[in-house]
Amino acid sequence: MAKIVVIIGSQWGDEGKGKIVDNLAEQADIVARFGGGANAGHTISLKGEEYKLRLIPSGILYSEKLCVIGNGVVLDPQCIIEEMDALKARGLDISNIRISNRAHVVLPYHKLFDNLSEQLRGAKKIGTTGRGISPCYIDRDDRIGIRVCDFIDKEEFASRLKDVLAQKNLILEKVYNQPPLDYEKILREYEGYAERLKPYVCDTIALLNEQIDAGKKILFEGAQATMLDIDYGTYPYVTASHPVSGGVCVGAGVAPKKIDAVVGVVKAYCTRVGEGPFPTEQLNDIGEKIRAVGHEFGTVTGRPRRTGWLDACIVKYAGQISGIDYMAVTRLDILDDFDEIKMCVGYKLNGEIINEVPASLKIFAQVEPIYENFAGWKTDISGIREYEKLPANARKYLERMSEVTRIDLGIVSVGPNRDQTIVVKNIF
Ligand code: GDP
Ligand code: IMO
Ligand code: MG
Repeated sequence: MAKIVVIIGSQWGDEGKGKIVDNLAEQADIVARFGGGANAGHTISLKGEEYKLRLIPSGILYSEKLCVIGNGVVLDPQCIIEEMDALKARGLDISNIRISNRAHVVLPYHKLFDNLSEQLRGAKKIGTTGRGISPCYIDRDDRIGIRVCDFIDKEEFASRLKDVLAQKNLILEKVYNQPPLDYEKILREYEGYAERLKPYVCDTIALLNEQIDAGKKILFEGAQATMLDIDYGTYPYVTASHPVSGGVCVGAGVAPKKIDAVVGVVKAYCTRVGEGPFPTEQLNDIGEKIRAVGHEFGTVTGRPRRTGWLDACIVKYAGQISGIDYMAVTRLDILDDFDEIKMCVGYKLNGEIINEVPASLKIFAQVEPIYENFAGWKTDISGIREYEKLPANARKYLERMSEVTRIDLGIVSVGPNRDQTIVVKNIF
């Protein structure tokens, strides 16, 4: 039986990771984030209520689970405090949140630079969430980031902020022709946030490894997805972190050999927000229908999501990179009313079948999806809880997906609520 389970996104994000984590969290002791930041938007529906989480792990709806924010996360103090207050106001217990003392802190200049560099890119913009994610990781790699352990140390924070801000203001004024940021103002505001967050800060590496040794069950909650990975995704139209399963090792301080199972969340069709190639995109009535039926609008930015058919090639690729043991297929119910459903099972380039996901975006934009057609099931499946009770056409679609991707089916999700879940394989 698995004890350490990683959940990752297999496409371009918004696959329904939050829903799957919330469902599996019932059997876990700890839910931990290992990367990304407030660019994530994980929605959980429970008893008619909707919770939108950005930084807080999706285990928070259970009062007794530890919710860990690992060192690989970029922490926006303002955002997490807002999130904590909102959850508290809704009656949730937030005392079990633990924040890594090694996580890097998102500061106002990160958000500002995120937006300024997008403006500078003009038509070639990435379409970021504007949450300061990449600028914060850049500062980490440039070794001028401010980590949580220094953020909550008044003297350290004051001195580090002074040095960094001097550098940032120079760039703001000389490169971007913008007014400088006010040191005292940021210091005062962020000192207040640091005081609020201090009680939740600890060494999460020690905590997680002690819990592993004690035989506890941990669910690692991926944010973003494989095709948004800085190395494996559609670079440069990607985020700045490693949302693949390997991200757990560096983003949480947990060794590869401790991971027992990896679950790849796969939306039954495909969506993407922001720019970049998307071979199965449907810029037509089908795409419109998927967006309308699936309410495909971004959780963080409200942008309409780009929509298209399932691309099994990228899911197979995600499976290879992350060692996905099981697929959790979500939103199958959104396809209930389609006469015909297509799945991309391969790519052709200049008439030849290719076996890889091209690195060059120029080439990726030229690939021609090879589609297989499936008859729709034209049945409301949202009330089904057993795999065998799914319509034969739905099972055919899922089984072909498993065959092409070479990944076993673990879960099928037929609605946003915790119980709208068909368990094909027990994961914990
Ligand atoms: P995440 O970022 O991967 O956690 O996904 P998002 O929360 O951004 O987007 C997924 C959306 O689909 C959320 O609104 C979920 O409540 C919803 N959802 C998840 N699974 C299902 C499902 O099986 N069916 C339907 N209809 N909605 C789902
Ligand atoms: P969840 O966890 C979908 C996308 C942005 C943009 C690119 C870079 O909810 O699946 P960034 O702000 O990270 O520098 O933006 O990555 N992106 C996401 N798209 N879901 C997400 O998270 C995303 N996080 C980032 O739209 O294209
Ligand atoms: Mg999301």
